Amino acid sequence: MSSKKRDLVGNYEVTKEGIVTRREVLMMGAMAAATGGLLATQGQAAVAADAAAAPAGAYKARDFKSLAGTMDGLSADQINQHLKLYEGYIAKANAIHKDLKSVDLSTANATYSPVRELLIEQSFAHNGVVYHEYYFNNLGGKGGEPTGNFKSAIEEQWGSNAKFIDFLKAAGKSARGWVIVGYNTRAGYVDAYALDTHNIASPANIVPLVVLDVYEHAYMIDYKTDRAKYLEAFINNMNWDVVEKRLNVATKHPSGADSTL
Ligand SMILES: [Fe+2]
Repeated sequence: MSSKKRDLVGNYEVTKEGIVTRREVLMMGAMAAATGGLLATQGQAAVAADAAAAPAGAYKARDFKSLAGTMDGLSADQINQHLKLYEGYIAKANAIHKDLKSVDLSTANATYSPVRELLIEQSFAHNGVVYHEYYFNNLGGKGGEPTGNFKSAIEEQWGSNAKFIDFLKAAGKSARGWVIVGYNTRAGYVDAYALDTHNIASPANIVPLVVLDVYEHAYMIDYKTDRAKYLEAFINNMNWDVVEKRLNVATKHPSGADSTL
């Protein structure tokens, strides 16, 4: 595993103080700055070169460069090219958010209209950002077997870790974009979902735990069209500790408003 602090868990952070919300992290950072202390960096840094060319906005690229060159089976070139795509989603998410403030509403139309296009592509760009961050954050580990509550959850759904891994590989061959193994806040169990692209079939109220990118761009440099070998490499570099933290956050802080509200 790289030396990078792997402390990002979706919208929550795991710090020395325990699990806190991102809002709380920002408040902690502001308090530290106000007292002359060091601002909490959250293990992230702006990607300076690309950020300079991108529209300013709330989306800032997180720093996953420590993954490049540190994983067996996923080359530095493969990771760096993938990160360029991720940074592109950052830029477009910022641009679309800005453009929606001034879009022409008078031509709104469900076949084609500028407002429709921006709304649809906002879902694409946003999910492109978020799913990639979950993906890169659950890499950088040593593989092996899950432990703790996630181990119990997969045994409940799939029977054993071996059966879960077989299922994950099959899911990876079946999807065209993403496999999401997530905590279902509606039903209270862990299950898997497939997306053919960032914003098609993205399930509601499913907190991502294991996020697997099966777009060809995730593996073509290293494996050409051999997705099965890429899936082996992905599993061998999984950080199951991050997955366990995500599950523990998801069960402690169910995502947002429940659908009964
Ligand atoms: Fe990707």
